[in-house]
Amino acid sequence: MALKNKKIIVTGGPTREWLDPVRYISNASSGKMGIALADASFRRAKETIFIHGPVDRGLIADKPYKLISVETTEGLLSAVLSSLGPDSVLIMAAAPADYKPLEKSAVKIKKTDGNLVIRLTENPDILKTVAIAKENNSSLSDLFIAGFAAETDNTEHNALKKLRAKNLDMICLNDVTREGAGFSSDSNIITIFFRDRSKVELPIMSKADASEQILNCIEKELQSRG
Ligand code: CTP
Repeated sequence: MALKNKKIIVTGGPTREWLDPVRYISNASSGKMGIALADASFRRAKETIFIHGPVDRGLIADKPYKLISVETTEGLLSAVLSSLGPDSVLIMAAAPADYKPLEKSAVKIKKTDGNLVIRLTENPDILKTVAIAKENNSSLSDLFIAGFAAETDNTEHNALKKLRAKNLDMICLNDVTREGAGFSSDSNIITIFFRDRSKVELPIMSKADASEQILNCIEKELQSRG
């Protein structure tokens, strides 16, 4: 079993970028897909680490694997980088905020008349940063990287573009507008794409079952590497 000797690092949930002491920018990710993947990884891998943004505490209570809690996209990036090592597999199911406020107000922003303009600045792209680290660090040369693509339109085109741009080994596309594939749903409808553009289309199934299928695909890919 190709995963038996691997350390699997799964990320899940949203990140939070604070505007002021009471408000933040985030997204609707529940973390359920990441948790299902970490549960499945724990049954197969040598070691499992789940790095998560703010998720419902009940969903991660009593987990038998290592949990690392982060809040911001930068926090997620540094937790991912420090968890990677030889024989690692990274599954990026998290939905990190792509932007953060240019300035965080130390005090609550007061309501004024008219529109409020908030300037945002780009956050690092974690997968792109990991791809660079892999290129420059021989201990990460065998790192297997799986990404996710949450799309609403041009789904296949966008997923393949991300696979290439982020230098991934595979990408799991889910069209979040489809019934049964939404953010806090317990089911998902995933199509997995590989570097050679081949794909595995999964029907609607529980996130637990989808996780097993995703790990089967990773395992097959690792076996074909020899
Ligand atoms: N991702 C990342 N770093 C970010 C944003 C996303 O590593 N700052 C990862 C996600 O965890 C996911 C993949 O990149 O595995 C695709 O995320 P997605 O939100 O679908 O795409 P983005 O790259 O953010 O592009 P866009 O928002 O334009 O669709």
